[in-house]
Amino acid sequence: MALNVSVQGAETSDRKGRIVLTESVGRGCRHIRVEIESGCCRPDPGQFFLIRERGVFDPLLGRPLAPIASSNNSLDFLFRIVGRGTSHMASLPPGTEVDLRGPCGRGFPGPVKRRLILVSGSLGIAPFLDASARYRDKMEVTVILGVPGNGWEEFAKWCSSRVPGLRITSDDGTLGNRGNAVEEALSVIEPGDEVWGCGPNAMLRELGHLFKIGSGRILVSLESRMACGIGGCLGCSLPTATGMKRVCVDGPVFEWQEIFPNAW
Ligand SMILES: Cc1cc2nc3c(=O)[nH]c(=O)nc-3n(C[C@H](O)[C@H](O)[C@H](O)COP(=O)(O)OP(=O)(O)OC[C@H]3O[C@@H](n4cnc5c(N)ncnc54)[C@H](O)[C@@H]3O)c2cc1C
Ligand code: FES
Repeated sequence: MALNVSVQGAETSDRKGRIVLTESVGRGCRHIRVEIESGCCRPDPGQFFLIRERGVFDPLLGRPLAPIASSNNSLDFLFRIVGRGTSHMASLPPGTEVDLRGPCGRGFPGPVKRRLILVSGSLGIAPFLDASARYRDKMEVTVILGVPGNGWEEFAKWCSSRVPGLRITSDDGTLGNRGNAVEEALSVIEPGDEVWGCGPNAMLRELGHLFKIGSGRILVSLESRMACGIGGCLGCSLPTATGMKRVCVDGPVFEWQEIFPNAW
């Protein structure tokens, strides 16, 4: 039976698609474009789709990915190969049919402050490629990408070609400034700025330091293992300051204080 659930903005539904482009973006990372059979909506940055090859049940579950761009009939994704699902997706040639469920969850709402700082750890940049393209003509947007360093050159170059003025930091100092993405954010933040984060949990937690400089608002996009993507299985539940929440429908984007109430 076809699924239709309205969570935020566009309706979550099961869609059929076909890979029309697949390219390597450096070691272990891939960009794919999927043409959507029935046309597509415009998901909010941070909303995600569960994606899997049609008719293939090993692995059983679709994997959550946040689009980096969307059009009336296509979605682009950027992902890192970490396990069975993503290595299978990376192996699929153009023409492969896929099933998608989405857009799922609550993405980043429109920014409410004057300046927006987007802080990402490696593949956490995915939703910010979309967000920066969407907002950079309307307000001052700074995008920060933190990567380990050596081996990430092609990925960093590819992201830089899509984000004018991208600020890169690397742990080993081989790319951009030496340091991490939160340190870079501390060097550019001004009182009242709005900050969005996406990346490893440890990085998201550290973003709380930006409140000390006077950040007006910090939103974070969380990762979790997903099964249904629509709030039914409780597999993605996590404790928050306001009780148990499901990352797939209550998030993946949350206020920082809700996720890290006891961090400081
Ligand atoms: C809302 C959301 C949006 C996402 N968007 C992107 C994106 O745009 N690009 C991208 O590269 N990745 C994204 N991810 C992460 C991506 O979904 C996982 O890397 C992927 O599901 C791993 O599947 P796999 O079968 O390859 O790995 P598995 O074989 O399932 O796991 C391999 C390893 O990765 C760990 N892992 C798997 N899934 C997750 C997860 N969700 N969070 C943390 N660790 C995990 C496992 O514990 C294991 O160690 C997103 C996740 C969420 C929840
Ligand atoms: S993945 Fe099923 S409730 Fe979130």
